[in-house]
Amino acid sequence: MIDKIKELIEEAEAFTTQSKEEVEAFRIKYLGSKGLLKAYFAEFKNVANEQKKEFGQTINQLKKTAEDKVNALKEELESKEETKSVYGDLSRPGEPIEIGARHPISIVKNQIIDIFSRIGFNVSEGPEIEDDWHNFTALNLPEYHPARDMQDTFFIQTDPDILLRTHTSSVQVRYMENNKPPIRTISPGRVFRNEAISARSHCFFHQVEGLYIDKDVSFADLKQTLQYFTTEMFGKSKIRLRPSYFPFTEPSAEVDVYWGLETETDYKMTKGTGWLEIMGCGMVDPNVLENCGIDSKTYSGFAFGMGIDRIALLLHQISDIRLLSENDVRFLEQFKSAL
Ligand code: PHE
Repeated sequence: MIDKIKELIEEAEAFTTQSKEEVEAFRIKYLGSKGLLKAYFAEFKNVANEQKKEFGQTINQLKKTAEDKVNALKEELESKEETKSVYGDLSRPGEPIEIGARHPISIVKNQIIDIFSRIGFNVSEGPEIEDDWHNFTALNLPEYHPARDMQDTFFIQTDPDILLRTHTSSVQVRYMENNKPPIRTISPGRVFRNEAISARSHCFFHQVEGLYIDKDVSFADLKQTLQYFTTEMFGKSKIRLRPSYFPFTEPSAEVDVYWGLETETDYKMTKGTGWLEIMGCGMVDPNVLENCGIDSKTYSGFAFGMGIDRIALLLHQISDIRLLSENDVRFLEQFKSAL
């Protein structure tokens, strides 16, 4: 009988499997309540006295071998399962990858940057929290200048010299202070004005302003540049310049692009006139050049500025400017197919 048990020990030692069910069957066979060990332990009392010691040791050895085996196999199979769950079922079809969407403001901004970069403009940026000098004074708007009221300004209360920039012309001042002509730069960015929030206006919006300074820059250069822009941006080359006023440019103009009156939307967008106002522009006032350390006798230049939000609303037929900052996914995901 002892030989038989020794055989069983060898068998148990050699046992291996990948299936949990087989491990359980093995356990029942050896260690179960009707298992082999139970039977051999019951046999103990019938064993001759001089064999009792060896018999006892051998069945204990069988018991230990079987227990160790069950534990080892269980552990092995469980750790395999764990690694399986880390990788999941590799044969399953993949999860579809959600394609992100660019914000309509970014789409329009990138288009504008792209168009101007093709004619040699670089991109410049500056701080949203500005000082009075860069937002106003350097731009020919000294203290108490009535035109300051044109731009309802948010001041940082503890210091009237610090404010939220009302336009990105402040970036152009910084650029002129730090760079020598020829200068060709556009400055996209967020600007702030203390206006009531409605479907048409917000207390913050985005601009791209452009600046070109060199020897002999003329108003004709400005017009040509704008025409190039509207052709590339909207596919419309007919523009008109209406005389206007900005403290930092002289002469100044408002730029309208002829949109046409072909569809009902054209009528709505242009209020039945066919013309759409898209930006302000002008020849940089010599005072501004001097304020920024550029010799106004040698150099001249033009500047222009447009609101990105308004253009995004127009191009994408969005009826409420507040949608642009609410971050409603149902709105944003509609721009997936755009640039
Ligand atoms: N800074 C002006 C504005 O915010 C726009 C502008 C820029 C006008 C440059 C003329 C020249 O309204």
